[in-house]
Amino acid sequence: MQSLKNNLLLRALRREKVERPPVWMMRQAGRYLPDYMKLRAKYDFFTRVQTPELATEITLQPVDQIGVDAAIIFSDILVIPQAMGLEVLMEEGKGPLLPKVIRTQKDVDALETDNVEETLNYVTKALALTKQELNGRVPLIGFAGAPWTILCYMVEGKGSKTWEKAKQFCFTQPELAHQLLQRITDTTINYLKAQSKAGADVLQVFDSWSGCLSPRDFKIVAQPYLIQIADALKDIAPVILFPKGSWYSLKELSDSSASGLGLDWCISPQIAREMTGNKITLQGNFDPAKLLLPVEEIKKEVTEMINAFGVQGYIANLGHGITPNIPVENAKAFVEAVKNYSK
Ligand code: CP3
Repeated sequence: MQSLKNNLLLRALRREKVERPPVWMMRQAGRYLPDYMKLRAKYDFFTRVQTPELATEITLQPVDQIGVDAAIIFSDILVIPQAMGLEVLMEEGKGPLLPKVIRTQKDVDALETDNVEETLNYVTKALALTKQELNGRVPLIGFAGAPWTILCYMVEGKGSKTWEKAKQFCFTQPELAHQLLQRITDTTINYLKAQSKAGADVLQVFDSWSGCLSPRDFKIVAQPYLIQIADALKDIAPVILFPKGSWYSLKELSDSSASGLGLDWCISPQIAREMTGNKITLQGNFDPAKLLLPVEEIKKEVTEMINAFGVQGYIANLGHGITPNIPVENAKAFVEAVKNYSK
């Protein structure tokens, strides 16, 4: 295996001593980058995702231009519903749309779970090509959506603030919901194993909408499946779980097989450390809206954030994805502030 020149992320996830925390940004390959916008003007979203050369080029942009300590493969969590047989459209200015939604046993039975790795071989090809182009510069992160978040899109058919229909589906048809969550989980485990085999050094699981669940319901529809995924991958690659908004789950998830937990900005570093007993690496949690502050203030806030988390067992990141309106200079200032950190 090719050795990495910068393995800060892997060392932080193994809780080995590091000279400074590694830094990357969720959605680091995206609309705030002018070179991304050029490719976006030429090719539609799923063409960019499904063409390994384009996905690789986009993945490398923030590594070359922003100087992050990790690459995250350019893809989307919605490739799983797509590979399971549901049509997914990406509507300009509106986000994802799934014209046919899941509501009944017949709908669940019709989902495809065999050969999903084969259908998604464009992702593994993109990972292999990216790995080659990175030439060991930084680690490569693979990812998938968590089963609950994928169920949200499959049932709701589009984005939502409350995910009411997804919750109603789970509460009124619990057995069917568990069947669906289990089928997504099994598919996701195979998919993440294939990503590791193709070159992903770290795997992140995005539970973007877990925060709309009560602590009790999180334990029923989200947590067991996150734990299954972490367990299945524990001997394969380090896993980072990102249960956005579900601060209440941190203690129990810190006892799972995961190597890292992602945090949003709604929890203080001190409380997150207390809840996780210093057992697991924490990642986050800069509010992306703060990237619009003047560069000097970004630097000051980043220093305070690292002081609060501590250098060890920590990955500097945002609390959610970077938004399209952030100047490239500000994204760079965030990364530079971590790289120049000295207490
Ligand atoms: O740089 C990276 O982080 C890697 C690429 C990546 C994308 N999507 C590319 C993308 C990752 C990790 C994702 C994950 C993803 N996709 C999540 C989980 C992370 C999160 O933000 O909570 C979710 C919920 C999705 C679903 C999704 N995809 C939505 C809601 C949207 C539309 C909203 C938006 O941000 O535009 C997308 C489209 C999408 N996925 C874009 C990108 C760069 C924007 C496409 C464009 O307009 O060019």
